[in-house]
Amino acid sequence: MSLSAVKPRIVFVVAAAENGVIGRDGDLPWKLKSDMARFKALTINKPVVMGRKTWASLPKPLVQRTNIVVTRDKAFAAPGAVAVHSIDEAIAAATRDAAERGTNEIAVIGGAEIYRQFMAHVDRIELTRVHAPTEGDAVFPDLPVAAWRETFRESHVAGPGDEAAFTYLTFERVET
Ligand SMILES: NC(=O)c1ccc[n+]([C@@H]2O[C@H](COP(=O)([O-])OP(=O)(O)OC[C@H]3O[C@@H](n4cnc5c(N)ncnc54)[C@H](OP(=O)(O)O)[C@@H]3O)[C@@H](O)[C@H]2O)c1
Repeated sequence: MSLSAVKPRIVFVVAAAENGVIGRDGDLPWKLKSDMARFKALTINKPVVMGRKTWASLPKPLVQRTNIVVTRDKAFAAPGAVAVHSIDEAIAAATRDAAERGTNEIAVIGGAEIYRQFMAHVDRIELTRVHAPTEGDAVFPDLPVAAWRETFRESHVAGPGDEAAFTYLTFERVET
């Protein structure tokens, strides 16, 4: 079967505090150099789907990735962004791009509104749990325990450029 006929896996890449907070005032609530490197490794050479507010938080488009930006604004256009106007349109554009790139994964990179609406579609979650008390206004939705199986866990103390200790976790959707 050719790769283009294979439905790509949809993967969340997310960093969340223990209370689920992922963002504050339109930005990340922490600096975690280690997690930036992991984010790059998990998303490079893939289509990345993000909400328009997350796009606005980036200093520039993510290089070596197709930046698919979900917005209701039909006039939205920005260099380096592929604009889409619904979750279905995002999946269609990312599926085409994944086939062109020869990858079988679509990375969904937030923020909270986008994770919530992709919850029914996601196959795997790459979560960085950030061990710092954190307040914020963007929150990752709770995972229904029965629907997800933890398949990887790796704890880290804060390294150079990290404001907190953190744990990398992978969850796979339980097949029903
Ligand atoms: N810790 C992490 O891993 C992580 C990852 C990503 C982001 N964040 C943080 O999360 C925060 C942003 O999250 P957020 O929830 O406020 O915003 P968001 O999900 O990034 O973007 C929301 C925007 O997406 C568009 N949108 C949402 N659903 C849509 C739909 N069904 N159809 C068309 N467009 C749709 C709308 O754009 P328009 O208003 O243009 O119509 C909406 O305002 C920031 O603080 C960011 O730093 C954290």
